[in-house]
Amino acid sequence: MKKKPTDTKGINRRKFLKSLAAGSAVAVPGVAGAMHGMGGGGMGGGGGGGGTGGGGGTGGGASTGAFQVPLAIPPELAPVASDSTTDYYEMTQMETAVEIIPGTVTTIWGYNGITPGPTIRARRGRRVQVTQHNSLPAGVSTHLHGGEIEAASDGHPTDLIPPGGSKTYTYSNIQKATTLWYHDHAVDETAQHVYKGLAGFYLLEDDEEQSLNLPSGDYEVPMVIQDRSFNADGSFAYTGNQSGELGDTILVNGSVQPYFEVANRKYRFRILNGSNRREYVLALSNGQPLTQIGTDGGLLESPVDLNEIFMSPAYRCDIVIDFSQVPVGQSVVLQNLDGSGSTAEIMRFDVVRSETDTSSLPATLTTIPRLNPADAVTTRRFTFSRRRGSWVINGRSYDPNRVDANPRLGTTEIWELSNRSMMNHPVHIHLAQFQVLDAAGNQPEYMGMKDTFVIRPMQTIRVIGKFTYTGMYVFHCHNLEHEDFAMMANFEVLP
Ligand code: C2O
Ligand code: CU
Ligand code: CU
Repeated sequence: MKKKPTDTKGINRRKFLKSLAAGSAVAVPGVAGAMHGMGGGGMGGGGGGGGTGGGGGTGGGASTGAFQVPLAIPPELAPVASDSTTDYYEMTQMETAVEIIPGTVTTIWGYNGITPGPTIRARRGRRVQVTQHNSLPAGVSTHLHGGEIEAASDGHPTDLIPPGGSKTYTYSNIQKATTLWYHDHAVDETAQHVYKGLAGFYLLEDDEEQSLNLPSGDYEVPMVIQDRSFNADGSFAYTGNQSGELGDTILVNGSVQPYFEVANRKYRFRILNGSNRREYVLALSNGQPLTQIGTDGGLLESPVDLNEIFMSPAYRCDIVIDFSQVPVGQSVVLQNLDGSGSTAEIMRFDVVRSETDTSSLPATLTTIPRLNPADAVTTRRFTFSRRRGSWVINGRSYDPNRVDANPRLGTTEIWELSNRSMMNHPVHIHLAQFQVLDAAGNQPEYMGMKDTFVIRPMQTIRVIGKFTYTGMYVFHCHNLEHEDFAMMANFEVLP
């Protein structure tokens, strides 16, 4: 059965706008409100330095100034039970009302009612089971992005948990330590569901990484960067723009352009671009480089100092910032060189105290065995373009009943991805971590292991990888409106 994407999209969008309107009547106080810790105006303690401009929304929406609220850190979820092999978790996806813009209320959809959702910390070799309960008025599918996951637990877009239903996902955690994230993947509705708040961190650790003595505990901070727009009453102003939604307000962990008080020592930041479509170019206002130690799929072999870091939607970037060069009392702004006005500044670090630093930043972090193109059993070619009002792969829109590739279990393949349009497409392939061939040399975003690769207009890149489970998966553009407007395809790994 062939879908007519434009028709279904219209319906979904109307349904979404209606549910937003209805949602403003529902108020579940508590969790998220507490989490965002509003009311702590000013920058507390620090003083000096840093940018000050950059206000919030434009065009009549609710807004607030930059650096008025502290950075919120999503709480880590405790297992409800543990045995010798497995930790068991429960989450409920629900609608709640939270205060994002001071003095207004925003209805969100959150895992356990908060956005970002609670963080799960997992260990390589130890299984995690998450039972997701759906208390939302729509079908959902929970995907663990970047995970090497059995097909039944991957969160395929059509594997929906109906309203009132639940599903248990099993994650075997067979891959190397890295920053994964879970988010909604409901077919045709992923963009609006993620925009409403359905995303959270899943931090996978292993012995090798733990032995490095990288900054940890309070000095290891997950940060998801997202852009949103707000109506005057504080509700999200989502338009469903098919080119991809761009918001005028930058949130980090759900707080508008927050400040974060730090000691004059090294910190590890696990940064996720959780935006639907916006790209960022990260830089520090004092000209100090950012030290990148990891990408989507895990640690780099060695740290790399970069003055700018490009992040496409769904990219993860593990960085270390050493604040020991910044005098106590001064501040450093994390800038977005790709933004302007209210999107040019992401957050501010206020160096408020001195502390001894016992953490390390070793020159060697891991080894990444190079996959050899000569071992590839096939090269598959996919083009990404726009055709008759929808975003397409090899000329075709997503059809849940069509399978566009059948890799064999355990074999190495090269996928050649070509952009035949005038917009960037951050292409994401489920199930595996890849190495980027050719383009890697001069483009730092292709370093290390990757599951999402931006492909610029008229560019082609080749990626090489191996598939570790059988079954049905998808690959798609991670500009989420492109994904929903059908730039997605199934692949099925055969035994
Ligand atoms: Cu981050 Cu198929 O998704
Ligand atoms: Cu994914
Ligand atoms: Cu795209």
